[in-house]
Amino acid sequence: MIITQKTDMICENLRRNSDGELCFAGMPLSPLAEKYGTPLYLYDEDRVRHNCRSYIEAVREGFGETARVMYASKAASFKQLYRIVKEEGLGVDVVSCGEIYTAALADFPLENAYFHSNNKTDADIEFAISRGVGYFVVDNAEELFAIDEIAAKHGIRQKIMLRITPGIDPHTYAAVATGKVDSKFGSAIETGQAKAITSLALTFDNLELCGFHCHVGSQIFDGEVYLATSRVMLRFIADMERELGFICRDLDIGGGLGVRYIESQPVINIKETILTVADEMKREAARLGITLPRISLEPGRSIVADAGLTLYTVGTVKRIPGYKTYVSVDGGMTDNPRYALYGSPYTILPVLDGEGERESCSVVGRCCESGDILQENVQLRADTERGDLLACLTTGAYHYSMASNYNRIPRPPVVMLKNGESYLAVKRESLEDIIKLDI
Ligand code: LLP
Repeated sequence: MIITQKTDMICENLRRNSDGELCFAGMPLSPLAEKYGTPLYLYDEDRVRHNCRSYIEAVREGFGETARVMYASKAASFKQLYRIVKEEGLGVDVVSCGEIYTAALADFPLENAYFHSNNKTDADIEFAISRGVGYFVVDNAEELFAIDEIAAKHGIRQKIMLRITPGIDPHTYAAVATGKVDSKFGSAIETGQAKAITSLALTFDNLELCGFHCHVGSQIFDGEVYLATSRVMLRFIADMERELGFICRDLDIGGGLGVRYIESQPVINIKETILTVADEMKREAARLGITLPRISLEPGRSIVADAGLTLYTVGTVKRIPGYKTYVSVDGGMTDNPRYALYGSPYTILPVLDGEGERESCSVVGRCCESGDILQENVQLRADTERGDLLACLTTGAYHYSMASNYNRIPRPPVVMLKNGESYLAVKRESLEDIIKLDI
């Protein structure tokens, strides 16, 4: 099952104006480069909101009013995004004190947060409980004991869900395939560990077991993966009801829907995909004779990826006769490590384009490392030169959040675009910021 939709441009919020200039969220890109400098992360606020609404509408229609969408904020975490997803009625998935703290400072109601991670330290647990995080998604038995103890100290009964590995291979790249049995995350059904941890979780005075969670991988285009995952999870829920008398109230089936980075990839129709999964889950629950739990989804990438674009300025153009052309930009693996890490494909376009000869180029960064590549075989104008602007598309997810200061390069700012206006959401790092922790 692949439910896709047709679009002419690779991203719906992108077009070229009559001067041949690329416009994003309705705004020409050169003035933004001029105003904020490059490299520059841009976000189309309306696109984030549109993606949030697609999810909310779909889960409500498919699973009813109680269903939830928890934005996986590891995809992009800064205060303004928490404010936006809150306004759109989403909860959040947080994985660290840093994300909890950022959400809290954005006045995000943390009772609508799921706290993940396969290794929550005592300090993490203490912090999350003291900040009132709604649910812990518990990965392992050690955590149950630690959360129970800290919850007791705070005089609360902490709501938890258990992370289960349903044993589904999402046929995606191995580094993000988290639902297989051989995974650092969660307890596998196949090995009996999922049942064991469920039974253990029910024995703690200060823990309230609400249900189960699973997440099988990322950048998934095949809806079959969700059908298979939900069948396995519902069967497990039915088994736990029969064998342990545990009634599961909440089931989170994770995130992972794929987005289009290059033209050959499909555009997933979020709503249709969710409605198909919902139909199947309702049928399966009826077949198993269980009540369908309250469902939550946890999308990250598909909320923010196509709302993002990174702007770069070309520096050096190095032509190696008979071999290839390197176009170096003023960013690189520090603002986008995804090609270096996963070989991820991207679409990179010149901001100003027109007729003329093309040349296949490797677009590379400015770090002292040969692997600092943004993309190979990019078709650019043969007269590309220092000062030209390039736009890398679909950079809203896992870019700012994975950026580093390698080579002590400051991270770019995040600028939001809305109604033809731009505003700063995260400032550009300065050299002072770079050294601020050095003694
Ligand atoms: N829930 C859990 C428990 C997760 O581990 C993840 C992603 C998500 C939800 C959201 O998945 P999404 O909808 O964004 O696919 N750095 C990699 C992606 C790592 C994904 C980790 N977990 C990348 O740049 O592709």
